[in-house]
Order: sequence, then structure tokens, then C-alpha cells
Amino acid sequence: MTEKLWGGRFDEDITPDVLDYTLTTDVDVRLIFADLWQDIAHVLMLGRQEIIPGETARAVLRSLLRLWEEHERGELKLRPELEDVHFNIEQMVIEDLGRETGGHMHTARSRNDQVSTDARMYLRRVHVNAVAANLALIDVLLSFPEDDLLAILPGYTHSQAAQPVSVGFWKTAHASMLLRDVRRLRGAFDRADESPLGACALAGTSFPLDRELTARLLGFRSVLSHALDATSARDYLMESAAAFAIGGSNLSRMAEEIVMWSGHEYSLVEVSDAYATGSSIMPQKKNPVVAELARGRAGRTAGTLVQLLTMAKGITLGYSCDLQDDKPYLWDAIDTYLSTLRVFTGQAKGLRFDSKRGEDLCWDNFSTATELANHFVAEHGIAFREAHHITGSLVGALLKRGATLRDTKAGAEILTGLGHPVAESVLAHILAPRTALTSYTSPGGTSPHSVEAVRAELREAVEDHTAWLDRTRRGLDSALSDTLRAAREIVDGGDFAEVLERATAGLPPVTRS
Ligand code: ARG
Repeated sequence: MTEKLWGGRFDEDITPDVLDYTLTTDVDVRLIFADLWQDIAHVLMLGRQEIIPGETARAVLRSLLRLWEEHERGELKLRPELEDVHFNIEQMVIEDLGRETGGHMHTARSRNDQVSTDARMYLRRVHVNAVAANLALIDVLLSFPEDDLLAILPGYTHSQAAQPVSVGFWKTAHASMLLRDVRRLRGAFDRADESPLGACALAGTSFPLDRELTARLLGFRSVLSHALDATSARDYLMESAAAFAIGGSNLSRMAEEIVMWSGHEYSLVEVSDAYATGSSIMPQKKNPVVAELARGRAGRTAGTLVQLLTMAKGITLGYSCDLQDDKPYLWDAIDTYLSTLRVFTGQAKGLRFDSKRGEDLCWDNFSTATELANHFVAEHGIAFREAHHITGSLVGALLKRGATLRDTKAGAEILTGLGHPVAESVLAHILAPRTALTSYTSPGGTSPHSVEAVRAELREAVEDHTAWLDRTRRGLDSALSDTLRAAREIVDGGDFAEVLERATAGLPPVTRS
């Protein structure tokens, strides 16, 4: 059995049950890239600050670069008996160099600042991927043909047909909502993008650290100064989980529309065959299972948020092992959210709407009654409340006859009886769903012009977010390659101060938070 890195004061080893209960190597696999990058940055800093001897730092860096390559080849395996990623990598370095040399790596650092640094670095990647996945789905939603501007759907309130809208209006509505998710993810990225490294266990250290140097090498925008806050904070995780939960809930609303509207009773939309499955017994079935699963899985992302809020609320400042369990739940939320976004992008491409059916439902559900009331206001000078009453009386009378607004002859007769005659041809025009749809020209309304204007605004936002995505990806990539290059140059005999000066010259300065 490997001797524990913390074993000095212990006479007895933990039982296999305890190891099983406490280990986190399976979860930490996702943090290997961050832990190694972080180790390299930390040792570069230790060498630069002469906290450990230059030759020792060089040897540790050589060892870490080898591990990095092993990781790149997918060959670096974590051993469960070493508990977590941090102990695994430290042990690998020690096995490579011996404790006298490898044992220097953990100087002026604790797993407490280390784990939060790793999680933040991983989250930055996740947020970048989540923004990209949202933008891909938004792009599909916004790439609709002009016909969709006049393809009619009933718009619903209270699950009752309310007013006619268009397919383009529906698609831009979801794109608009998803763009808010993107903004939320970017906010969560910003809060994750603060370096706790150098906070050590909770109180800082007596060694002359350069926290700004490690933060820059790791591509952080700022240093989270306060050591106790830096090691204790998990609100950035909650905020990320909140972004995933809200995003999951928003996607679930689209899912619900797809599920409901693809049923025979609505027959408004059909998912492509690739996004549905059949029944083992009922040959006629085509079930929109992707949308159903997404609707259900919104519960998982919401559950993660509740778990994290509950986990942290009773913990005094400073690390407690409760916090170790933040990761498995968060990973689950990340996987659920990202896979839903990706599968929805394909699903959205293949949605087929039946606008003839949409128009029929609008007629049959009196969805243009408001237009008649508006006509009385605009053309007859009647107060809206009175116009509402007259139109309501017409609807009531038609319902009693088993008729709808489509029966304009009956409608005209009833209105004459009510003392507010309107010519049948005028009525037929006012009450047509398409007339209503095209007449809502207010900003953000259903008219083709308004929808096009919104589409242009949304596209502009997409461009802004795409530029952010490119900038951010480039920034993170160059921080990583600059760190690796600096380590290689130093291993090859370069001078710490000189190499790091050059390596960081191109990296943006960090602020303090
Ligand atoms: N594996 C631990 C975690 O995921 C790292 C921090 C452990 N620190 C400690 N003092 N036990 O949270």
C-alpha cells in the first residue's frame, strides 16, 4: 500500500470502506488538465521567487511536463488509493524524483486553494462550451426562411389559444430567451475567472508568493485576494449551477411545446424521425422522446443547484470536506445541460410546423376577437371596455349557435342585432388570423417587419457573443501554451526571471477582486 502523503501523524491506515467513501479520483479525472497546468504555474513561480532552489524547480517542471504529455496521450491514470487528483500528481512527481526533490512542489500551497483553482479552470471551459452550444442552437432558430414570418401558429396564454403568432415569432422568442442564458453563463464565467491560488490552506503563507504571476499564467482575469474567502467561496459554483438550472428550465419550456404540439390534438409540429422513437406494442406511435427527456432532466439541473446551496449554507468559513461533494453533482448538471443543448440543435433543425393547422386553430378558438374590439375603438370611436363587451357578446352568441368567428355571416347578423353593425366583408378581413398577425407592428410584435427587426437585433447579440467566445478561447489557449513554453525553456536551462518576463509580456494584466 502506498504510504499516505499525510501519513506522518497516523499509526493506522484508513479502512477500504473509508477510502471508498472519501475518494474522489473518478470525479477528479476532469481536473487533471487544470491540476497539471496549475502545478506547472506554481512551480514556475516558486522558482522565480527563489522559494525553492532553481535546480529543484527545473527537475519538478521536467517531471510535470512529462506527465502533461502522458495526459495528452490519454495515458495518465489516477489511482483511487491516492484519494484525489492533487495527491495523485504529487505522488507521481515524488515517485519520479524522490521525496527530497519532488516533495518541494507542494510548498506554499494547500489542496484547499488548489481544488478551487482547478474547479474554476474547468468551469471556464464548460462555460465557453455552453455559450458555444447555445449560440449553435440560436443560430438554427434564427435561420428560418421568410415564409416562417407568415406561417401561422396560435399563441397561447393559460394554455388557451390567445392570439395568432408566426413560426418566425416563436423561433425568435426562444432565441431571445437563450441569449439571456448566454449572458448568464458569461456572468458565471466572470465569477469563476478569479484565482484563489496562493491563498494556501486558509490564511496565506509566510513565503514570498507572487499570486499575480500564477494567475496570469493560468489565464485568470483577477486574483481573489482574501485568503479565507478564496478557499471558502463556492458561490461561483452555485452561480454556475444556477445558470445551468435556468438554462435547463428554459429548454424544458421549448420541450413542453414540442411534446404538446406534436400530439394529434394539436398537430402543430412534428419532430423529424431521428428525434423520436416508436412503441414496442403500438405500431402507430411516434414519441418525441428527446423533448420529453429534456423536460424531465430540467429536474436534475435544478436538483444540483439545490444540492450546492444546501451543502454550503451550514459550513463555517474555511474548507470542510462537505465541499468535496460539489463536483459530482455539478458534473452531472454540466453533462445534462450540454447534451440537451446539443441534441436540441439537431432537433430544432428538423422541426416541421403545420401552419394550415395553426390557422384553423386560430379561427376555431376565436383568437382574433381582440381585433374586432380594436376595430370598434379605431373606427367607431367606442371605448375599449365597451368594445370588449360587444365583442364578448358576439363570441357568446356564436358559441351558443355552435359557430366560430369564421362564420362571418352569422357574426354580421349578431352584431347588427347588438346595434353595432359591421359589413360581413369587413368582418372577414378583420378576423382573419393573417390580418391580425401582420397588424401587430409594435416593436417586438408579430408583424413580419417587427420579427425581422428583432431577428436583426438578436443576430447582432450573437455576433457580440461569438467575438467574446473567440477572444476568450484564444486567451485561455495562449495562457496555456505560454505556460508550457516557459516551463520547457526553463527545463532547457533558461533563467526564471527572464523567461517568465517574456512569457507574461503577451498576457493581459490581472486585477484584484
Ligand atoms: N479532494 C478535495 C476536494 O475535492 C481537495 C481538497 C481537500 N482538502 C482537504 N483539506 N481535505 O475538495
